[in-house]
Amino acid sequence: MKPLFSSFLFAAAALALAAAASTGTEPGISFEYHRYDELRKALVSVWLQCPTITRIYTIGESFEGRELLVLEMSDNPGTHEPGEPEFKYIANMHGNEAVGRELVIYLAQYLCNQYQQGNDTIIELIHNTRIHLMPSMNPDGFEKAASQPGEIKDWFVGRSNAQGVDLNRNFPDLDRIVYINEREGGANNHLLQNMKKAVDENTKLAPETKAVIHWIMDIPFVLSANLHGGDVVANYPYDETRSESAHEYSASPDDVMFKSLARAYSMFNPVMSDPHRPPCRKNDDDSSFKDGITNGGAWYSVPGGMQDFNYLSSNCFEITLELSCDKFPNEEMLKNYWEQNRDSLVNYIEQTHRGVKGFVRDLQGSPISNATISVEGIDHDITTAIPAEPKYTGLQGTSYGWCRWCSLQLENLHRAKSTRYGSWWKCCHLLGSNSTKKSELQTLKKKNLQP
Ligand SMILES: *[C@@H]1O[C@H](CO)[C@@H](O)[C@H](O)[C@H]1NC(C)=O
Ligand SMILES: *[C@@H]1O[C@H](CO)[C@@H](O)[C@H](O)[C@H]1NC(C)=O
Ligand SMILES: *[C@@H]1O[C@H](CO)[C@@H](O)[C@H](O)[C@H]1NC(C)=O
Ligand SMILES: [Zn+2]
Repeated sequence: MKPLFSSFLFAAAALALAAAASTGTEPGISFEYHRYDELRKALVSVWLQCPTITRIYTIGESFEGRELLVLEMSDNPGTHEPGEPEFKYIANMHGNEAVGRELVIYLAQYLCNQYQQGNDTIIELIHNTRIHLMPSMNPDGFEKAASQPGEIKDWFVGRSNAQGVDLNRNFPDLDRIVYINEREGGANNHLLQNMKKAVDENTKLAPETKAVIHWIMDIPFVLSANLHGGDVVANYPYDETRSESAHEYSASPDDVMFKSLARAYSMFNPVMSDPHRPPCRKNDDDSSFKDGITNGGAWYSVPGGMQDFNYLSSNCFEITLELSCDKFPNEEMLKNYWEQNRDSLVNYIEQTHRGVKGFVRDLQGSPISNATISVEGIDHDITTAIPAEPKYTGLQGTSYGWCRWCSLQLENLHRAKSTRYGSWWKCCHLLGSNSTKKSELQTLKKKNLQP
């Protein structure tokens, strides 16, 4: 950001305030590119403006030593609050795909502004969700892409990290393990359990990848999106095909939910959801796109991607958002992209509150951590949270249970039934570490929950 220019903008914005409300412009947001130092400053300025609901932390460093910064937004920044779902946006893992990086910064500014202005939707969202925003997973690549002279940027320069590693091909390829296990028997979830040491010792993993793997393992995220550019679509798992062919629909056990999540993004973006949108480039194969969404494998197979890694190693559901035909468009376009994506970005975070959520407790009322929860008809178990490492959170003991889209407040089943998501309770089975608990749940099911 350019301080002088912004104070001018601020004055202009104040004058334009009345108009702003109706045209959807956002006072206080400067729609420009943020280089590394400017990104830091932008996050700090959000923190200074909204200190009670934000915190800045870093999950590690890039190969060239730039920080992988995260802005957290929550009513209690720095702590995991039992019962409050954790959400993340990660942008710019391909350093030359710049729109997502900027949108995440604008989103932080927007949420802070709206919170201060008393917007009930945003206040409720921040009070009930712990939101983690990472504008750039590949700050080295971005600097390289942004340093090219002129407005037109090369299609590839800056995509990889500084070692030349494509970060979205660098995650452990858990799909292959799951596909073998599907044939021969074996787990299809939490595949990296107790493998932290192996991750640390794996020399093929880039520092950015390692840092994100630890982040995924340490924080009980339940929902995420990974922001890219080069096309316009919301892409959902699996990304890697079963047969290793280049294009093949590759359903995960949660296919129905993933489609719905992807639509929760695309439907609020008028360009993404436009059925008549021409392909970004004449020869692009968009045949797998429908309603602005696509299965990853049906579009093209991606081994070692971050999206499938989230799903197969943790309780986190991630989709991949392609936000713009141009990877690094002219700065004047940024405001446009913000307007196209603003409602989608907010609506997608709100999806963390779908389904039923709550605690798995033993009969004494103590929460049971790492309890396995299976959902009838969906062959992909999830677990209740494990108290995270104090590294990011300072979190103490209490865990909370997520039966994902299917968790519930066991003490309050009759209430769960009356919510708009009530129909989801049916699918809950508790296979937790305490068998007493299991029968308790079944009894409650019989008593209160017959449809
Ligand atoms: C409050 O925030 C929501 C979500 O971003 C938005 O749709 C709505 O227009 C905002 N309300 C006002 C009064 O700005
Ligand atoms: C399981 O529940 C029983 C019965 O209330 C309790 O005594 C026991 O401590 C619980 N076990 C675990 C592992 O939580
Ligand atoms: C969680 O449970 C699984 C088995 O159900 C076990 O392998 C793993 O070590 C447990 N994790 C922790 C941190 O206790
Ligand atoms: Zn990309």
